[in-house]
Amino acid sequence: MSQYDLDVNEIIEVKPFLKWVGGKTQLINEIERILPQNIKNNKKIECYFEPFIGGGAIFFHLVSNYTVKKALLFDINKELILVYKVIKKDSNALIDVLNEHSDKFLKKDQDRRKEYFLNIRKKFNEDLDGFNFEKYDITHVERASQTIFLNKICFNGLFRLNKKGEFNVPMGKYKNPKILDKKNIKNVSKALKIAKIFNSDFKTSEKYITENSLVYLDPPYKPLNKTSNFTSYSENEFTDIQQIELAEYFDRITKKGAKAILSNSDPKNENVEDNFFDDLYSKYHIQRVQAKRFINSDPKKRGAINELLIKNY
Ligand SMILES: C[S@@+](CC[C@H](N)C(=O)[O-])C[C@H]1O[C@@H](n2cnc3c(N)ncnc32)[C@H](O)[C@@H]1O
Repeated sequence: MSQYDLDVNEIIEVKPFLKWVGGKTQLINEIERILPQNIKNNKKIECYFEPFIGGGAIFFHLVSNYTVKKALLFDINKELILVYKVIKKDSNALIDVLNEHSDKFLKKDQDRRKEYFLNIRKKFNEDLDGFNFEKYDITHVERASQTIFLNKICFNGLFRLNKKGEFNVPMGKYKNPKILDKKNIKNVSKALKIAKIFNSDFKTSEKYITENSLVYLDPPYKPLNKTSNFTSYSENEFTDIQQIELAEYFDRITKKGAKAILSNSDPKNENVEDNFFDDLYSKYHIQRVQAKRFINSDPKKRGAINELLIKNY
């Protein structure tokens, strides 16, 4: 058995490898508190589902603190899922390429760093045309390294693609950015051995969910206000119609007997009369918790706001 072979009973420390819009690091304690009692008692999760995995803050917390036997992770963002797959399959090759980027970049002065950043960004956008996301091969390692590099170096760590799938965020101001966290990538790779990773819509997960499943749903936020455009994670928008479809999916997986937790922004932050989610999830337990929204175009609006935590048990 090599150092990184699978041992499902082992618990390892892992954290998100990308900074992601809507990352749930600050909700970990609240979610931990409401986990089903048998999971808290046995410190074991038989089958975990995350249909909107994003940066994976909750999944990584759970695998760092519980024995997770099996996990199914989904996201519609193909660049994100590509990085998950590369870390799972080819962490050593990825570490080598990232190490090279890190060495070259950190040696340079500010102007040359900017040039390096812009070159990577240009290559990333040029390679998109005709890139085969479906068929895994070694070119995926280079692309995953570019995504991680751009995520670590760009302004606000905000990995946002425009409608055409291009990355246009400018470089951020970091003195000594940590482009490569070798130990974490190794541990994430190890943690992902128990995971099946899907680049698809959240609804694909439904057919795999059973009464033994724990499901955590963290869909894109319903925009706080009409001018806020921070829910546009990829070319795919998440509209009110999809929020309604998600609530119907929530009903169906509840009928299957799965335990499900869902988080979302609270529209009452903007308008106390707005009962959108209270109405959609009226059959379930709804809790309001305080959170800080870090990524907002307007710094004055980065204060404490409520988030919704909904559970079906
Ligand atoms: C709020 S983020 C999840 C953040 C994650 N919990 C974390 O801690 O980083 C929502 C995610 O849903 C993904 N997404 C958007 N529409 C989707 C869909 N229809 N099906 C699956 N994933 C979707 C986005 O790409 C994004 O990564």
